[in-house]
Formats: sequence, C-alpha cells, structure tokens
Amino acid sequence: MKRVPEPELMEGQEQSRAYAHADFEEPHSRFLSLMQDTFPVREAGPWVADLGCGAADICIRVARAYPHCRIHGVDASRAMLDYGRQAIREAGLEDRVQLHSGYLPGVTLPRRSYDTIVSNSLLHHLPDPMILWREVRRLSRPGSGVFVMDLLRPGDRRRARELVRTYCGDEPEILRRDFYHSLLAAYRPNEVSDQLRKADLAHLEVRIVSDRHLLVCGRIP
Ligand SMILES: C[S@@+](CC[C@H](N)C(=O)[O-])C[C@H]1O[C@@H](n2cnc3c(N)ncnc32)[C@H](O)[C@@H]1O
Repeated sequence: MKRVPEPELMEGQEQSRAYAHADFEEPHSRFLSLMQDTFPVREAGPWVADLGCGAADICIRVARAYPHCRIHGVDASRAMLDYGRQAIREAGLEDRVQLHSGYLPGVTLPRRSYDTIVSNSLLHHLPDPMILWREVRRLSRPGSGVFVMDLLRPGDRRRARELVRTYCGDEPEILRRDFYHSLLAAYRPNEVSDQLRKADLAHLEVRIVSDRHLLVCGRIP
C-alpha cells in the first residue's frame, strides 16, 4: 500500500485533549522497556532530548526510569505542550523535565548535543522524513544514543482497519480516525533504512517490534 501523508502538527484542542487522555500504557511501556534493554540505566548519560514530545508521556516515563536524567522535550503544538506541562507538574518532575516550543527542523534547545535522543510517533507526521534524521545528527555527538519508535505501515487498508479495531476500538472516534490515518502515513522498514543511509546513519538498527511498530536504535559512532 502506498503511503498517504497526514497533517503534520496536532494543534486542534479536541485532538490534543483526546491524545493527552488516551491510554498509551501498552505501547509506551514497551517503548521504555526496549529503551532500557538498549541503553541500561547505569550506562545512560544525563541529557535526553525527546523530539515531538506531544503531551510528554514519554518524557515522564523516561524521567522515572532514568532517575539521574534530565529531559528536554520539544513540540510545535501549543495545545499538546499545555497538556504536557500539566502532566509534568502533576508528576512532580518540573525540576528534571522541561518542555520547549519549537518546530523541527532548526529547533533551538538549551543544549547543543544530547547523550540520548528519543522520539515516539513523530516520523510519520513529518512532510519530509529526513527532517528527523538530520535533527538527530545535529543534536547528537559521537556516542549519543538514538531511540526512535514509530508506527509501521500495514500492507493494506483492510489490515489498517483491523489494527484500529484491535487497539483503538474503545477510544473516541477522533482517536480512531487519527490512528487509521497515522498507520497509512507510517513508513515501511526498507523505507526507513533508505532514509538512514541518506542521513549517514546506516549503522542504526531498524527492527519491527510489534504488529504495528518499528524501532530505530543504536549509537552515533
Ligand atoms: C503522534 S504525536 C506523538 C507525541 C509523543 N511523542 C507521544 O508519543 O505521545 C506527534 C507529535 O509531533 C508533533 N510534531 C509534528 N511535526 C512536528 C515538527 N515539525 N516539529 C515539532 N513537533 C512536531 C505534533 O505536534 C505531535 O505533538
């Protein structure tokens, strides 16, 4: 099935509210357990950037799993960042997790480089996927860890509808619609491998980690 792009930013109030309150326990806890397998806590440097952090659920989980880390999340949606800041306050993590309003590419963050760069479900939103990989290069240094998870485009629309029913069946209509369009906008592993080759990041590993997710991970040499 050919890729169908979806709108880039999640700026709508209703969409942001639905996303911020959705149940991402299963995929987001998988994100963290795979991240800890890849970058054990004792080996992880203290500075983490989360690109396209949305409502900060991944930032908060990373902060809890890596108690010595400080996390800078960035997103271009004001509505998402408002929900994220509220969640960080409620979690009592304001001293270690800061959110920044910024649009990739060319976003300005407090640090020039990070020990670990993470991103979840941003890649398929970007009009040009190379934006993410160039930002990964720009914000990293030799030895930085890279951990990017995203959706995996299914083989056809029927399979996409099946995945929506299985994983999003009880969610509000706006979330089911978003998930369907995100599946159609996602990349296949071979497409991501091509992107990484073009970005001179071919040494990063591309792995399918569930029936709907792929993972790109490794260290910058
Ligand atoms: C599907 S959400 C994922 C949010 C979060 N990473 C998570 O896992 O819950 C994608 C996020 O990327 C943001 N985004 C998309 N394109 C962006 C860009 N060029 N610069 C900054 N943020 C962007 C959207 O606003 C949205 O909040």
